[in-house]
Amino acid sequence: MKKLLQSLTSLWKEDPLRYWEKRARKHGVRSVLNLGHSREEVDAVTEWQKGILFPMLKAELVGGEQTLLDFGCGPGRFTGGLAQLLGGQAVGVDPIQHLLDIAPAAPNTEYRVSRDGRIPLADGSVDVIWCCLVLGGIAESALPSTVAEFTRVLKPGGLLFLVENTAEKPDSKHWQFRSLAWYQQLFPDVALRQLGDYEDLGERISVLAGRKR
Ligand SMILES: C[S@@+](CC[C@H](N)C(=O)[O-])C[C@H]1O[C@@H](n2cnc3c(N)ncnc32)[C@H](O)[C@@H]1O
Repeated sequence: MKKLLQSLTSLWKEDPLRYWEKRARKHGVRSVLNLGHSREEVDAVTEWQKGILFPMLKAELVGGEQTLLDFGCGPGRFTGGLAQLLGGQAVGVDPIQHLLDIAPAAPNTEYRVSRDGRIPLADGSVDVIWCCLVLGGIAESALPSTVAEFTRVLKPGGLLFLVENTAEKPDSKHWQFRSLAWYQQLFPDVALRQLGDYEDLGERISVLAGRKR
């Protein structure tokens, strides 16, 4: 009985990166979507999200931004388009090498793997951080170091653009559903404003942006 409980507990506590690795190998690009979407829907969902999110980001840019970090870029669904939108360089960063391997090459776009929670970019080197549906998959205990990494790489006055699932539902094994206010207090150095919401398969997705003080 004790052994059974121990193995159930270790199953429950599966390392999050191991989980993403397995999910990526099983589902490819679809692994980064709500799996309620079929394989056939992946491209259409991505284009639909771009149609909502890219104009919101564009409205937040002041011009002159040169470097964007796509944090938790997965298979690079947005990275190349973000470089184009910015008219600058985009760097997609993700801990799962398999996802980076299937990310498409695009002009002014590169992909780098992150290790041990460190973003492989220099201090104060980034004008914009785009973070789309990533933080909900990171445990609360690991978030302070993620926030510290954002603060380290983002230039003073740089823009944080955040997209997160804020549905009011219980956490699942690998996803935390947090409120908008929760994300706002997570970044004391960024005055995050709600730009809008959209719904995906009945779940509320919130879009926030703000500049580093
Ligand atoms: C739901 S997917 C979103 C991917 C991408 N942003 C998109 O919208 O297509 C979550 C991504 O976060 C990545 N991820 C998981 N833990 C991470 C961490 N600690 N730091 C950075 N990325 C992480 C996963 O590998 C995965 O690519």
